[in-house]
Amino acid sequence: MEYIILDVDTGIDDALAIAYAVRSPLAEVLGLTTCFGNTSVEEATRNSLQVLELLGADHIPVAMGAPNPLLRAPLKQKATAIHGENAIGDVELPLPKSEALAIDAATFIVNTVRERPGQVTLVTVGSQTNLALAIMKDPEIVKLVKRVVIMGGAVTVPGNVTPVAEANIYSDPEAAAYVFQSGIPITLVGLDVTMQTLLTREHLADWRAKGTDLGRTLADMCDFYMDAYYQFNPTLGGCALHDPLAVGVVLDPTFVQTRSLHVQVDTEGSLSIGRTIGDLRANSAQAPNMDVCLEVDVERFVTHFLEWVV
Ligand code: BDR
Ligand code: CA
Repeated sequence: MEYIILDVDTGIDDALAIAYAVRSPLAEVLGLTTCFGNTSVEEATRNSLQVLELLGADHIPVAMGAPNPLLRAPLKQKATAIHGENAIGDVELPLPKSEALAIDAATFIVNTVRERPGQVTLVTVGSQTNLALAIMKDPEIVKLVKRVVIMGGAVTVPGNVTPVAEANIYSDPEAAAYVFQSGIPITLVGLDVTMQTLLTREHLADWRAKGTDLGRTLADMCDFYMDAYYQFNPTLGGCALHDPLAVGVVLDPTFVQTRSLHVQVDTEGSLSIGRTIGDLRANSAQAPNMDVCLEVDVERFVTHFLEWVV
């Protein structure tokens, strides 16, 4: 059994990642922590509570996290073009009955990791802000977590929010840089692999054909995301399962092949803020600080995801 904390900026693919993790028998989700990114932290928190209720899983605690990047000004825009005005594809879900915890995300992470030393995998699919704050609060957690699996970055492929930067790292580059050099064990699930794992219109039709509330609602959410992908990436043939792949890597690490690399975040470049620079040189003298996913077994992962998500 994998014990998971999922740090989310919910978000359509975040909602899919939550559903996959909650419904898989291989994982127990100990809590969700929320951050800004696709939308404000308040809306990400409400969306997360609503998705848990949709899943019949409102016993899972939600802790709200940082509203803004560590050092930079608040993000100017929400990702409405990709995720919709409410970040869940403009699908209206019932107002949540439950509320977020009284403690913040960083405190929840520290407390939960300390309760289960060596057992908790933290899956971060938004900015690195909450994790950076948790490490600042209690530096010993870098030795007490089982692993951090980060959906973020692009080491061998172009970025998505700028030509070279991926959205989650770009939204708080200093937090990512801090986490990367902290010594915490990291697996990086970047655009290198996530852009290969696609959900298609046929999959959405299959979800609707199940006739369940969950299948219909997730398909309705994904319509928006799918249309956005067809608009911005017309030749791709589907929408990317970014955040679900990070969960998949926890459930079955053999879905991917990794390489140990030294990776840094550019926090200063005039054109390359948020770029993840991996030292791919064969004779690199820099000690690796993470395992970077460079290949993915698309068919096995997508089949497993589809088996559990709805
Ligand atoms: C990442 O950015 C967000 O928009 C998605 O939810 C995903 O976590 C992809 O770059
Ligand atoms: Ca996300």
